[in-house]
Amino acid sequence: MSTIAIASDHAGFALKTELVLELEKQGHTVADLGPGEPNSVDYPDYATKVTDAVNARRADLGVLICGTGMGMAITANKVHGIRAALCRTEYEARLSRQHNDANVLCLGQRVTGGGLAIEILKAFLGASFEGGRHAARVEKIRLVEAKR
Ligand code: RB5
Repeated sequence: MSTIAIASDHAGFALKTELVLELEKQGHTVADLGPGEPNSVDYPDYATKVTDAVNARRADLGVLICGTGMGMAITANKVHGIRAALCRTEYEARLSRQHNDANVLCLGQRVTGGGLAIEILKAFLGASFEGGRHAARVEKIRLVEAKR
């Protein structure tokens, strides 16, 4: 089992609540980094709570939820070391781990229903990086990060 850091904005709050329960049910350790209530907040403030937890290895993987998932993904991918995948399907979630070594899953509560979101989450957590030819490509992502 893993330690999963999770956060949302107000537009992702209900799905976050649902996914926290699901993660606990699956036996994961959950770091719920907020918000604690569904008042209006700014997604970059919460995206960075999760990216910092992943980079500091306080969590193995992260989950970020906003209305579309876009703001969370855009913000998270600005942080060095983070490979955030905005996923609408289980296939994308699985491949984002296997090929891209994604370390943060982004979801959109206004786009993806709770039942599908749980399946996407399971696919993300159940898959592992395949390495091999994909490792060289992920290393090139790191070089892009280092040079710009
Ligand atoms: C909030 O209204 C909304 O803009 C936010 O949750 C997210 O969808 C942005 O990408």
